[in-house]
Amino acid sequence: MPDAAVTMDRIVSLCKRRGFIFPASEIYGGIANTYDYGHYGVLLKQNVIAQWWKAMIQERDDVVALDSAIIQHPSTWEASGHLAGFTDPLVDCRTCKQRFRADHVGELQCGRRPSKHPGEDAQCDLTESREFNLMFETTIGPIRESGSTVYLRPETAQGIFLDFKQVLQFARRRPPFGIAQVGKSFRNEITPGNFIFRTLEFEQMEMEFFVPPAEAQHWYEHWMKERFDWYVRLGIDPEHLRLRAHDADELSHYSSATSDVEYLFPYGWGELEGIANRGDFDLSAHARVSGEKLEYVDPQGGERYIPHVIEPAGGVGRSMLAFMIDAYDEDELGGEKRTVLRLHPALAPVKVAVLPLLRKDGHPELARSVYEELRRHVKAEYDDGGAIGRRYRRQDEIGTPFAVTIDHQSVEDRTVTLRDRDTLAQERVPIDGLAQGLQGRLDPHG
Ligand code: GAP
Repeated sequence: MPDAAVTMDRIVSLCKRRGFIFPASEIYGGIANTYDYGHYGVLLKQNVIAQWWKAMIQERDDVVALDSAIIQHPSTWEASGHLAGFTDPLVDCRTCKQRFRADHVGELQCGRRPSKHPGEDAQCDLTESREFNLMFETTIGPIRESGSTVYLRPETAQGIFLDFKQVLQFARRRPPFGIAQVGKSFRNEITPGNFIFRTLEFEQMEMEFFVPPAEAQHWYEHWMKERFDWYVRLGIDPEHLRLRAHDADELSHYSSATSDVEYLFPYGWGELEGIANRGDFDLSAHARVSGEKLEYVDPQGGERYIPHVIEPAGGVGRSMLAFMIDAYDEDELGGEKRTVLRLHPALAPVKVAVLPLLRKDGHPELARSVYEELRRHVKAEYDDGGAIGRRYRRQDEIGTPFAVTIDHQSVEDRTVTLRDRDTLAQERVPIDGLAQGLQGRLDPHG
């Protein structure tokens, strides 16, 4: 289990207290499974995405980037199988007017008697189960007429398949190569979602890796390891992670094999990311429906084939949540409780806080100039409000790895104290060269 101090309530409360993440539309009473990201939440989210791009694009040369449209031609979803098969079985209760996932009834609470499951109370009156499509539908143009119905994408992956041929030409690639994209997807989720674990709109980080069919198993194993290691590199305890292969009856309609990277949340194991062997399902389906040939033709030998696809598909919100939970800690400092997020420095929303000890004697002026120099290099924050201990704790709570304190000695000899969030060591270091020194500590591998 993650540290005993971590509960979902504490994470939700920290997120709200420090403005990372909070319920959307709150002034109207909120809207189910929908959240807004505040200042630190946006910064953390951007850092997670940046680390994903770094692993996909900067640290390899066989993956290219794409940003495809959210609303695609409706035939996309016919070909992909989402129109027919992207459904959940639902039942309605005629008494409490609530809707439940038919396959989760045993874990859900009755709308009238929360101590019971739906259907267990004498007053419950459940309908037969029926399939409910998870795609959000909308229309193009002002009039709702046939032919104008479109869908908000339920996964970013399909945009990649539609552009396969274009990328093959523009990027001058041959399999094995991948196309990566990050963007919002939308699903009409009914099941209540454990904070941001399951939401109506969410960002996905997906990469479709196109390979010669005979190499599919090799690349499936490669990507399982790569993706597992990514979470570990960014600070998650490997004991809190596992790779779980799907049973045959769990597999999506497009997949011949899928393994999930799962994290041990305070409430149990949950999926962070799926690595799927999609075979040639998608390219063949789009070729059939569109009439376009979606294959690779070797310019030298003339060999032609439909590449198979290995897909690592992760969620930004879910991995953010896992990074925060795994980093969450409580300890005691000077007899007071301290909440600290021991986030990997690459993920921390703020890298360094600059704190003048006093609001006089030249401290604020010098602190401000140090801050203005540091912020040219890393995300820095200036804070002169309240006792120094409280300011440290505010930074610990948002995961800031370093704090620079300016005191009377700083004014005399241009040195500052550099405090480490985790070891709590305070070192006296010169202001000159501080930015470079900090960058070295934040990213020791450069
Ligand atoms: N293209 C394959 C695909 O979309 P998925 O397992 O349905 O596969 C991939 O989704 C990832 O997207 C999940 O592992 C999860 O991290 C994230 N995800 C899916 N549905 C979500 C939801 N309703 N809320 C938040 N994240 C979600």
